[in-house]
Amino acid sequence: MVALAAIALLASQIAAQLSPPVTINDAKGNPLPQCAFDASKGKARLEPPLDGYMMLGMSLDWSYETPTTSSQGKMKGYTAAVYNSWLDMGPSLGNGTGYDKNMLNWFGSEAGRVGAILELTLNPPKEFSPTGPDLKDLTPEMYDSIARDFARINQIYGTPIFLRWGHEMNGDWYGWGNEPRAFIASHIALTNAVRKYTNMTAMVWAPNIGITYPFVGGGARESPAPGGLDFDLLDTNKDGKIDSFDNPYSPFWPGDDYVDWVGISLYYYPRQDCHNDCPVPDNYFKQLLTGGFNNPEAPGSGDTNAWLATRNFYQQFAEAKNKPMMLPETGSPWIANWSTRAGATTEVKVKEGWWSQVFSQDTMKNYPRVKLAVQYEEAKPLALDGEAAFQDWRVTNNTETMNWWNGFIGGFKSNLRDASQLVYNCDGSITIGSKQAVTTSAGGVASVTGGASSSGPGVGPTSSKSAGSVNMVSGLAAVVLAYFL
Ligand SMILES: *[C@@H]1O[C@H](CO)[C@@H](O)[C@H](O)[C@H]1NC(C)=O
Ligand SMILES: *[C@@H]1O[C@H](CO)[C@@H](O)[C@H](O)[C@H]1NC(C)=O
Ligand SMILES: *[C@@H]1O[C@H](CO)[C@@H](O)[C@H](O)[C@H]1NC(C)=O
Ligand SMILES: *[C@@H]1O[C@H](CO)[C@@H](O)[C@H](O)[C@H]1NC(C)=O
Repeated sequence: MVALAAIALLASQIAAQLSPPVTINDAKGNPLPQCAFDASKGKARLEPPLDGYMMLGMSLDWSYETPTTSSQGKMKGYTAAVYNSWLDMGPSLGNGTGYDKNMLNWFGSEAGRVGAILELTLNPPKEFSPTGPDLKDLTPEMYDSIARDFARINQIYGTPIFLRWGHEMNGDWYGWGNEPRAFIASHIALTNAVRKYTNMTAMVWAPNIGITYPFVGGGARESPAPGGLDFDLLDTNKDGKIDSFDNPYSPFWPGDDYVDWVGISLYYYPRQDCHNDCPVPDNYFKQLLTGGFNNPEAPGSGDTNAWLATRNFYQQFAEAKNKPMMLPETGSPWIANWSTRAGATTEVKVKEGWWSQVFSQDTMKNYPRVKLAVQYEEAKPLALDGEAAFQDWRVTNNTETMNWWNGFIGGFKSNLRDASQLVYNCDGSITIGSKQAVTTSAGGVASVTGGASSSGPGVGPTSSKSAGSVNMVSGLAAVVLAYFL
């Protein structure tokens, strides 16, 4: 039935694609010599030459918008370098990878249509259950299958992929959280598989910011009890406890060879006591980045040196590991519920306060390894400080905020590389140039129903998201790939 639909649509589905197909294998499926990643060039996989530049990414709610509608419609023709999407595995791992391959294909084709890099946040089985599937249940065949799927997206659409696997693994709100040994083994297995098939997919290692680490009450796996190997790893100062004196990140590091980019989930939150009326404090972004922001309630936060030694993410992972860094999801939410209270400020101020620190001359000068910041362009009901709230991180969902955003990005644009300037090569390098649209029949036009997104801030007990499904009615590329994948 699906195949018949494809034939009927063949003639009508010729679409322009900005990322031309890339040849990464010979006729026998073996890697081509020119596609070998060359570390001696001094750049990571998918690290463009960005001296003096940064990149913008957009993490869309794909249930109602795509890179094309976001860039060409709302952002007045400005195409971000990166678009993020979310993909869930499981809960039943089924016959293979347990995720919706058509959805993956659609994300790849839509990013390729605008010539952007796809950030793909791939969630291992998410629900925590002692009997359900877990990181430990993933098999070599599954890693191999995932890697081949990603390589095909790289090849067919020419779309490079930032593969963010098992993000926020230091939290207690996902099924893969708080199990450093299983995470590391899994990350290494997936990295090895991916590199066998492609160098155009880069591995991103991205925990959650550890201000309130160790996290409690997130609804999935809490910190392990003493006596096990995971406990020993997480008790970094070996004092017999997992507490705020321990390093929130290092137990999950898979090793320098298995990470291309580092990242951290990092947001601004207006707190309850000031009801949308908190200006973003000066230097707030860089304090988060470097651990300078203390959690006043955490034991040990008064001891600045001890705190900084474990909390300075930028120094420990971008500088010391010599890696490019991204903010794979970031933003500042407007909480309309609080907008009528005395002293409330405006949505634009809440968002401008954050973004003017992230995209700034200060960031470029003092934190040059921060190369990419991805705006979390979603909204969801999510309590803040125990109060019901609808948090809206979006910058393009109403005219006033969108006008500010477009003006803001317009003003910073000379410091940004956008999708039209990035040329992707099969060895994982990116050069600066201009690219031309090619006409291709592989321009997927499937549409999404349901909530395509599956994560973002404040997940855990409050989140209720599920992977959407692709409506295949007019999805030629999805149909074609259903055979390949
Ligand atoms: C990726 O690059 C490595 C060298 O860094 C090379 O050995 C490998 O074959 C390449 N993979 C592909 C699929 O080209
Ligand atoms: C596994 O494959 C069978 C037949 O190929 C199919 O009917 C079934 O829905 C698949 N299960 C999952 C979870 O994908
Ligand atoms: C306030 O929060 C609730 C709970 O999330 C939400 O349903 C409601 O729409 C919000 N009201 C406004 C005005 O945003
Ligand atoms: C705003 O978001 C809603 C969903 O929350 C969506 O249906 C609508 O199209 C969006 N409007 C714009 C201008 O993006």
